[in-house]
Amino acid sequence: MALPKDVPVYNRRDRFDPVPELAELRARCPVLRTELHAGPSSQVVGWLVTGIEESREVLSDMERFTTLPPADTEAQSRRLQNIGNLLHYDPPDHTRLRKMLNPEFTMRRLRRLQPRIDAVVEECLDTMEETGSPADLMQHFAWQIPGQTACDLLGVPQDDRAELSRQLDITRDDGRGRARQMAAGRAFRAYFQQLSVRERRDPGDDLLGMLVREFGDDITDEELEGLAASLTSAGIENVAAMLGLGILVLLEHPDQLALLLDRPELIDRAVEELLRYVSVIPTLSPRTALTDVPLGGQVVPKGERVVCSAFAANRTAAPGGPSKDGFDITREPAPHMAFGHGVHYCIGAPLARMQLRSAYLALWRRFPKLRLAVPHEEIRFRMPSSRNYSVDTLPVAW
Ligand code: HEM
Repeated sequence: MALPKDVPVYNRRDRFDPVPELAELRARCPVLRTELHAGPSSQVVGWLVTGIEESREVLSDMERFTTLPPADTEAQSRRLQNIGNLLHYDPPDHTRLRKMLNPEFTMRRLRRLQPRIDAVVEECLDTMEETGSPADLMQHFAWQIPGQTACDLLGVPQDDRAELSRQLDITRDDGRGRARQMAAGRAFRAYFQQLSVRERRDPGDDLLGMLVREFGDDITDEELEGLAASLTSAGIENVAAMLGLGILVLLEHPDQLALLLDRPELIDRAVEELLRYVSVIPTLSPRTALTDVPLGGQVVPKGERVVCSAFAANRTAAPGGPSKDGFDITREPAPHMAFGHGVHYCIGAPLARMQLRSAYLALWRRFPKLRLAVPHEEIRFRMPSSRNYSVDTLPVAW
């Protein structure tokens, strides 16, 4: 398959597998000074970390690494689109905001959403049945489930959901041009501004209502709307990518799929293995060294960028342990980096797992003969230059 030139080498892959350059780096040079892709058309020199231990060191060290860009001023770092997005905060502000959200993301609290998630999954399957085979699984299934779940969590009224989803579609459609994508991004954010105003006035029984009731005086209006917008987009895009790619991996490994359908109690392991194997976020947000930091036998100078490859870490076998290149749902569960590591570890991980568990099993319960409706080679993967690894369409038949 032809690999796009505008995607940095560390984010390129051959379907699900790392390109040989990444595998070689991981083995020979866990911390490498190289050209990093720093935006749609700019390169900066920085550090690529492919070693698992070195990545953990970077991601858990909040005193010596920040997620803010180098030499950023307070004014720049709090650009409007970043306000409320936890990934753009360091402690103590990160700790303050995350503490407000944590109680809403415990398994105990999230469990109330499970019946609704199961119902949304069944509604999607009903629609697919009504529409008839073949159908695009991304459109009818993979985007719908996290879309409805995130809106339920945040308290987005039913009537507003279609328009919100349309704006989100435009932001990820590179064919529409940068200006339209940015305008859709602003409209998406503006929607959450209005919703936050409404929730301030009349807090509902949802996440935004809870934030207003419990912490209304400790959180600014911009933070509230930014939290809502970033939770929604992070929650939808990554789960959708994991649904699409996870289903494709299972279709391409019929022995593993048969094992899962025969022993559905393996679903938790299967979900973890899919998260590890697919690694929809191949490289985590860049960090910046706040001081000179010794790392993997090198010294990262103060002010330089560091990018950790979760994908490389997820494919690294423990010394003397089994290879991590293959897909095996009976694998002994081991920590992976698909949800990141350290203080920015994905807050939505339990909610993502709930959706994946429910959706993978229900899909095959309804359509036991599910198959791709086009040859494997025709599936086009979306290489991430800044976002996640995914497919735009996944035509299936049953
Ligand atoms: C399979 C689905 C998901 C994957 C693979 C995923 C992956 C990740 C990763 C890798 C990070 C850390 C990024 C970094 O350190 O640079 C992260 C952070 C985050 N994720 Fe997720 N995520 C998923 C689902 C969700 C969901 C469902 C939500 C919310 C409803 C969510 C909200 C967030 C937020 C708010 C952060 C920032 C946390 C912080 O900075 O403290 N994610 N996610």
